[in-house]
Amino acid sequence: MSNSLLDSKRIVLGVSGSIACYKSADLASKLTQAGALVDVILTEAAQQFVTPLTFQAVTGRTVYSDLWNRDGHVQHVKLGESADLLLVSPATAHTLAKLAQGFADNFLTVTALAARCPVVVAPAMDGGMFAHPAVQENVALLRARGVVVIEPKEGRMASGLVGKGRLPETAEMIGHIRRVLGRNGVLAGKHVLISAGPTQEPIDPVRFISNHSSGKQGVALAQAAVDMGAEVTLITGRIHEPIPFGVNHVQIQTAVELHDAVMAVIQEQDILIMAAAVGDFRPKNPATQKIKKEMDGVPTIELTRNPDITVAVRAWKAVNHAELFMVGFAAETQNWLENGQSKLARKGLDLIAVNDVGGTQTGFRSATNAITLLGKDDLMIEIPLQSKEAVAEAIMKQVAKMLTV
Ligand code: PMT
Repeated sequence: MSNSLLDSKRIVLGVSGSIACYKSADLASKLTQAGALVDVILTEAAQQFVTPLTFQAVTGRTVYSDLWNRDGHVQHVKLGESADLLLVSPATAHTLAKLAQGFADNFLTVTALAARCPVVVAPAMDGGMFAHPAVQENVALLRARGVVVIEPKEGRMASGLVGKGRLPETAEMIGHIRRVLGRNGVLAGKHVLISAGPTQEPIDPVRFISNHSSGKQGVALAQAAVDMGAEVTLITGRIHEPIPFGVNHVQIQTAVELHDAVMAVIQEQDILIMAAAVGDFRPKNPATQKIKKEMDGVPTIELTRNPDITVAVRAWKAVNHAELFMVGFAAETQNWLENGQSKLARKGLDLIAVNDVGGTQTGFRSATNAITLLGKDDLMIEIPLQSKEAVAEAIMKQVAKMLTV
């Protein structure tokens, strides 16, 4: 699926000789599917594990494997200068050493010297080699020079040993790449707090009152904010969506916990986006033991009101004269425009995303959504039915626009 951050980005993927090379074929494929133009450079050792044809097939582009026999010896300069990102993955101990010392003995290392773009390396090696002081010194040297180092993961390696040296899986690698590509985006330097997912209000230790929110829309907003360079804190209820890489994740269960988590960090934020579906009520006296069906009659559950978090933030903002841009959501099944306008005013929001949750293609759990953004001075923007990722991007662009005018 195409992604606007990766679309048409030129990524040079250097692959050095490790068993983890096969993972880079998947990475090259996924980046290409997301719209990136991936130029692969294979070292001689990498070609012992994978062939140029593998990468050519998944990227649809020429693969570079030899220093001198292509379009002349300045090809590396062209690649290095035109790239938006150079990623070396997997980076073996040998290639790390060469990059750290400025060696220029193969196509990958000369391209790295010619690169004017951000450089990212993903070390992968077996047998505890990553912990060796020589490797660690090379990694430290590269880091000091501004190279982004993706730490290898702990786990079982090809030798059967368990330790730190595994190349992260593709989804995590793409998360790192997105963070680096987005770091000078329009929201660079901004702190964004996003809430997502449902709250669960305990009735007893095994039951709760909740709603259908999956967290998809809020998680997509967090990824869109990262792509635009923001520092993102994402507070979620219990959800199954993967948390975007580079996001500071806080998990809560109840509305009161969400309130406390929001208020604990609100001071550092520039933007608050409340996409969570917060329970308005909770059982007043949750039972400490499981309520038994053998008891006499049917239990009556007395409810009490939960704090309105958005209203609490608004009050905090007024007292502290804070410059906080506040975005709320309105989940509506009818009279959406009137209800949205009323929540915009009542909750003191700068923008509200009105979400029709009555259908199957929009609102809770769906992969797609459609939103109407309402703001002050009769601002009204329709975001038509599309993926929740694309909706999130459109919302974040509008927020960025309103912040910068
Ligand atoms: O998670 P998904 O499955 O992807 O679905 C997305 C969504 C439908 C949950 C999302 O798009 C959405 O509409 N979220 C808001 C749901 C909601 O609680 O709406 P509301 O109209 O009840 O609340 C209005 C606003 O006040 C919301 O921003 C809400 O977060 C906030 N609120 C509500 C209650 C409360 N006690 N405190 C609050 O701050």
